[in-house]
Formats: sequence, C-alpha cells, structure tokens
Amino acid sequence: MKQSLTASSSSSSLIRRARLSPYLLALLVFTVFVVILHGEDFMCLLGQLDPIPDRPATRTEKKWEELPFSIGKTPEGCDLFSGRWVWDDSTRPLYEESECPYIQPQLTCQEHGRPDKDYQHWRWQPHGCDLPSFNATLMLETLRGKRMMFVGDSLNRGQYVSMSSLPRNTMQQLSSTGHHFLLESNSDDAVIHRVSERIVRRGSINKHGKNWKGVDIVVFNTYLWWMTGLNIKILQGSFEDETKDIVELSPEDAYRMAMKSMLRWVRKNMNRKNTRVFFTSMSPTHQKSIDWGGEPGRSCYSETSPVDNATYWGSDCRRSIMEVIGDVFSKSKFPITFLNITQLSNYRKDAHTSIYKKQWSPLTPEQIANPVSYADCVHWCMPGLQDTWNELLFAKLFYP
Ligand SMILES: *[C@@H]1O[C@H](CO)[C@@H](O)[C@H](O)[C@H]1NC(C)=O
Ligand SMILES: *[C@@H]1O[C@H](CO)[C@@H](O)[C@H](O)[C@H]1NC(C)=O
Ligand SMILES: *[C@@H]1O[C@H](CO)[C@@H](O)[C@H](O)[C@H]1NC(C)=O
Repeated sequence: MKQSLTASSSSSSLIRRARLSPYLLALLVFTVFVVILHGEDFMCLLGQLDPIPDRPATRTEKKWEELPFSIGKTPEGCDLFSGRWVWDDSTRPLYEESECPYIQPQLTCQEHGRPDKDYQHWRWQPHGCDLPSFNATLMLETLRGKRMMFVGDSLNRGQYVSMSSLPRNTMQQLSSTGHHFLLESNSDDAVIHRVSERIVRRGSINKHGKNWKGVDIVVFNTYLWWMTGLNIKILQGSFEDETKDIVELSPEDAYRMAMKSMLRWVRKNMNRKNTRVFFTSMSPTHQKSIDWGGEPGRSCYSETSPVDNATYWGSDCRRSIMEVIGDVFSKSKFPITFLNITQLSNYRKDAHTSIYKKQWSPLTPEQIANPVSYADCVHWCMPGLQDTWNELLFAKLFYP
C-alpha cells in the first residue's frame, strides 16, 4: 500500500513537471532480457539500429570490416534509417498478435479493442536500398548457442518481445528479467522510482554490469528516464556516505556521462573480436497532436496513419541528446552499432498502444470520459513498429 502510494505521488509530480503520461512510470523500470539462441522447437521470439555518423565512418570503416557475425554488406552509401513508410498488405504483419504468447497484455492492442489494424501493415523502405528480409533460420544457425541481451527500459523490453515473436517455430527462447540499468541510482527499485529526488551514482556501472558479462550480443537503450524536465543529481561517493557529495547536471551532460560509462564498461569487459554492441536511439512519444498539425488538446489517441511529412521531427525528442549520442559514439574505439530509430519512429503517431492495453490500475469515470487523458503515447502495439527495429537490427548484425 505504502509502495503504491509513493509510486503514484512520484508519477503525478512527474506529470506536473514534465507533462508526460503516467506510462512513464512503467518505462522507468529498467530491465534486462536475455535471449539464448539454440534448440529448434520454440514459437515466437527477438531488436534495431542506426548508422555511424557520416564523417567518422570513413575513418573507422576499415577498422570495423571484420565485425563478428557479419555475412555480407549493406550496399555502399545506403543509409537504412533514411527512408519512408510504405503500405504493404502482402508481407506485413510479420506475425499475428494472437500467435505470439510472449506479448505482454500492455501491448496487445487488438485484444484490448483497438478497432483498426492499419498500423500493422506499414513497411520501412530505405531510400537507397531494400532491407534484407528477416530470416529466422539464418539467425538461428548463425547464432546457435549465443546469448543476446537487451539492457534498458520498457521500450527495449518491447523490442525484445518483438524479437521473441519474429522467428516463428525455429528457436527456443529462454529469458530472464531483472531490474538493471546502466548506473546505480536511488530509483533502481522497480516500483518506487523517486523521480523528483532521484540521484544517480557516478562510476557505478559495474553494479549492474556484472549481470551482462559474457553475452555475445548486447542491445542497449536509455532515454526517457533522463527527460524528467529537471537537472539530474549525480552522487560522487556511495549512497551510504554520511555527507553526500552531489552535483547537478543538465540532462544532456548526465546522458553523456551515462554513455561514457557504458562505453568504458564495454571496452573493459567485451571483446570486439567475438561480441557485438548495439545502441538504440530515442523512442519518440506522441503526446501533443499540435506537433503534427492536429487539433489542439489531442494526442496519439485515435490516430490511424503515420505522419505524412518527411521533415516532421516533433517536440519530444531532443536533438541535443541525439547530438550527444552521435558525438560519443563517433569517438568510440569499440565498434558500437547505432540503431537510429528515432526519425523513422517519429512518423508513427498511429503505432502507440493508446487506450488499447491492460491498464495498470482501474480507470476513474473522469478518465473513461476523456480517453486522451490516459492514452499511452509512449509504448507501441505489437506486431508493429518495433518489428521494424528488429529488422534493422538483423540487417546491421549480419550485413553491417
Ligand atoms: C538518424 O537518422 C536520421 C534520418 O535519416 C538523420 O536525419 C539523423 O542525422 C541520424 N542521426 C544520427 C546521429 O546519425
Ligand atoms: C534463410 O536462411 C537459410 C540459411 O542460411 C537459407 O537456407 C534460406 O534460403 C533463407 N531463406 C530465405 C527466404 O532467404
Ligand atoms: C512538417 O514538419 C516540420 C517540422 O516539424 C514543420 O516545420 C512543417 O511545417 C511541417 N510541414 C507541413 C506541411 O505540415
């Protein structure tokens, strides 16, 4: 009881400060998911990525030539993340919602009454080439006995669930769930996130990182956690110290610190000759329809088609954070494959779970009367957008 009270008060203060939906609460739970690829008898299971920024690519290309697991190449000069959504009734969706037992009820939109299925029928078409088709047999054969791990927030969990759903009849899935994030904080607790008084401990990545040792492929993400609208408090010592040495950083600087910690950890603990590291960029939200020229006061609720404006960016995704990511990774000595899903997902105002999901707590009559007030414009229906993230992960893993 005490726990749920605390959780709801922290979420409402967050809403006041950052105007984000209560679903952020779910998002704040950091999780690790492991996929072990072996066996032949499992049903539905599996990820996503972005190119290395143009300039540094030339310099690092040679160095990265022999990436583990690569079996081919994406055509020279083709940026898989630059493209458009095309309607494809014949090859999409890649699986059915009802066929995949791994989808948690927060993402099963059809089961929860979503009236349209259009969001399932869009295919990502890069401008410069075609995406290789997702081949589960190939994935199974190439990665037999390997461990792939998703480390991050609930959006990374969605990507993991999508990955679990894609291979169909070919793999056996084993999974484990924990609450691990890049850095230790006083918000590590799965229920009480203490958003307003959150403190992150500098240099604490090993506390969670010990759980990731020995994996063959790791897919990281982190974004909304840092976007509370507040500066982030960073603790220099330990949480037990009597006098706490705390500095405040802007979200950008704090994010940069987390990225650098992650890279340092990767350099120390992973071997570039036989492991691969992916980083998924920010997953956008669609809270305010005025961002895409809709009526004021609305959100992703009742949207049924993607944004038809190639230059649309939206207000939730900070370009400054994207610049931090691009900057940190371009200087990385360990090859990190960037899954730049932000822009392509920005177009998908139609793909969120909205009101068609299992609710964490019963709705009030006021909420029911006003669906916009409780529509989840953070997470994504499955099948749907996150399958594309995994098609991109597949492409970058095998055809870098
Ligand atoms: C990510 O992809 C978008 C769309 O192609 C592009 O505009 C942006 O520059 C890319 N970001 C980075 C950091 O590479
Ligand atoms: C999938 O990969 C397997 C193993 O490499 C190959 O034999 C098969 O032809 C591929 N399927 C398609 C549809 O490309
Ligand atoms: C497309 O989106 C951009 C950036 O969000 C905006 O400035 C522009 O007005 C939009 N164009 C149309 C035709 O709505």
